[in-house]
Amino acid sequence: MIEPETVIICLRAAMLGAGAVCFGAGSAALLLAPPQVASVLRAYLQPVLRGAAGVLAVAALVSLAVQTADASEDWSQAISPSALFMFATTTHAGRTSSARALLAVVSALCILLARGNRIALLRLGSLTAGLFLASFAFSGHAAMHDEPTRTLQEANHIAHVLSGTFWTGALVALFCAAIILLRRPSGDQVEGAELMLRRFSPAGVTAVVIVGLTGALNTWLILGRAPLDRGSIYQLLLAAKIAAVAVMLGLALANRFYFLPRATRPAALVASIAIECALGALVIALVAVFGTLEPV
Ligand code: HEM
Repeated sequence: MIEPETVIICLRAAMLGAGAVCFGAGSAALLLAPPQVASVLRAYLQPVLRGAAGVLAVAALVSLAVQTADASEDWSQAISPSALFMFATTTHAGRTSSARALLAVVSALCILLARGNRIALLRLGSLTAGLFLASFAFSGHAAMHDEPTRTLQEANHIAHVLSGTFWTGALVALFCAAIILLRRPSGDQVEGAELMLRRFSPAGVTAVVIVGLTGALNTWLILGRAPLDRGSIYQLLLAAKIAAVAVMLGLALANRFYFLPRATRPAALVASIAIECALGALVIALVAVFGTLEPV
């Protein structure tokens, strides 16, 4: 029989990945796309956003059920209304998970209903996805200390999760902008897509700086040292995550200073952003695993 812990790791990866797309790609499309490319970009993004919204809501609801089963060490409790109610109302983990599931459902509904020009719904969907991601600061290792360190750690974790998921999620919107460049529809749209890719630079640099600083503080608060012990799986996976982030950073620099100025041949830019997206997914998968391990 498959263990609830294994299912919880898969659901964490699904929630963090889908949340990153809803929050990061949604807000990048809203904040960075100039008018000449905004609606075509949203049309490209719509199937991805809607898929991510569906995964977000389902994974958050199933996660609540699986955590109930895990807490009672009995799979049948996952579908027992009374066990679900008890877990969701009387435990800290249950309250956090049910608030998270509510935010996920609201975010998903807004994104699924945000067709065409219903920008306000997309804004709300992206914003609630951000709140959903921020809620990870109130569970797991982010909540392992007592006051006053706890508040510092929670604030740091919120900044870390939001900057990291903005960066990785925004890459999906940038990928769509690069695809527009590749297809060369009209002069206006090409100009708009190039402008959007350039506009990402200041936001991207800010996100990278925040993610690096808060990631280092997170490591110090949770582990108390650099992740150099090869005998610890937690440290190995954290080190792999930092290495993947370093490669993402290298690709981001190459995109901005090498591929984007040569946007007359955008295939390389598309490929480079695709690799960056895959590394972002790897980073999220790694944190979904090591965030559940003992930090030794
Ligand atoms: C693209 C860059 C990054 C992304 C998307 C990212 C994403 C995340 C997310 C979503 C979490 C929260 C997991 C949870 O609360 O369950 C997290 C936690 C964490 N991150 Fe990052 N991160 C990035 C970069 C970094 C870097 C550069 C470092 C180290 C310098 C780092 C160190 C950590 C640590 C130590 C945790 C806590 C894990 C735990 O709960 O035990 N992250 N990260």
